[in-house]
Amino acid sequence: MSSRIFINQLDRPSEGLPERNTEVRAFHESLPNYKPTPLVSLPKIAKDLGIGYLLLKDETERLGLTAFKILGASWATYRALTKRLGLIEKDGPPNLGNPSAIPLRTLAEAAQAAEITLYAATDGNHGRAVARMANYLGIKARIFVPSWLDEEAKFKIRNEGAGVQAYDGDYDQTVLATKAAAEQHAEGKGVLISDTALTVDDETASSIVEGYQTMFDEIEEQVLEITGNNTVTHVVTPVGVGSLAQAVVTHFERTPRPTKSMIITVEPKAAACLKTSLEAGEMTSIETGYTICSGMCCGTLSAIGWPILNGGVKAAVAVEDSDVDTAIKNLQTCGINAGPCGAASLAGLEYILSTGGLDLGPNSTVVLLCTEGKRGYQMRD
Ligand SMILES: Cc1ncc(COP(=O)(O)O)c(C=O)c1O
Repeated sequence: MSSRIFINQLDRPSEGLPERNTEVRAFHESLPNYKPTPLVSLPKIAKDLGIGYLLLKDETERLGLTAFKILGASWATYRALTKRLGLIEKDGPPNLGNPSAIPLRTLAEAAQAAEITLYAATDGNHGRAVARMANYLGIKARIFVPSWLDEEAKFKIRNEGAGVQAYDGDYDQTVLATKAAAEQHAEGKGVLISDTALTVDDETASSIVEGYQTMFDEIEEQVLEITGNNTVTHVVTPVGVGSLAQAVVTHFERTPRPTKSMIITVEPKAAACLKTSLEAGEMTSIETGYTICSGMCCGTLSAIGWPILNGGVKAAVAVEDSDVDTAIKNLQTCGINAGPCGAASLAGLEYILSTGGLDLGPNSTVVLLCTEGKRGYQMRD
């Protein structure tokens, strides 16, 4: 039986990390309902675990939705459409330093006139976020979901006004089917907003990763406020296709601080494609099984994520659904209403502590990414 934790011996700074784009946060601030999500200190759990600070980034409510995904979906939609509609120079630089260059209303008028339809594959949150963006812009969205996705998730996407199409395959196959459908849409009016890259030159998937930067900008300010310094010894992030983890590594690698932060990734045991890839030393696809962490049920990493995660992740943990279920209940006692993906970070941290690894102790400042709010889920044996 393979171990549930992989400690990465590679420790090379990833090369060619993109610079921080200051325009991203200004764009998010221009969206309805923007406010920084809380970074919540959890002293009781920290004490129980024997660590200094445990700081949970609470993404259970973000821009009016119940997950962090709209940070990436909104920015990627903005970037893809401004380019497709000729509102920025086709191959020129982005609107660096000029955040209000193209207001949402202008973009909406141009997208409606061009009869654009947004396409996305999703196992829940990303599709809902793309549907919300289509809603803001007054255009259509077609969201493809694997047929196993629960009714609650499908209902929430439809409720944004999008068409939902169930695809009889796993998440990876759904991604491919969505790409084909977007390409076949009449007269190039289909625009794919994919949160995973099939090729290394996928600009939209890069914009998704860039969009997550706002979360880290907020974390930097909040850590300073809570602890009085910018020390972050460990960051724990859930992983599906690895785009969020790519954003984590990118940010923490390029931000100077006294000690380098260790990046820890958490995946469901039934869908641990990053851990499998790290163990194999090359990007490896796997067959996925059932997990309550449906947003993380992915069998293939993003092609742009792997080169960065390969050298930038310190430890990869695979968790059981029962550990996640316990973590959900534990967080509830502290007033955090996390869904399975949101609580997976705590489950992963608890597992690492049980192994005694990674220098965790009273001097540690650990940031947990809690990426989604409460949702229904079904435990299976
Ligand atoms: C709530 C939630 N957490 C974590 C993830 C994992 O993010 P990524 O697929 O970028 O690894 C997802 C992906 O959809 C998600 O919906």
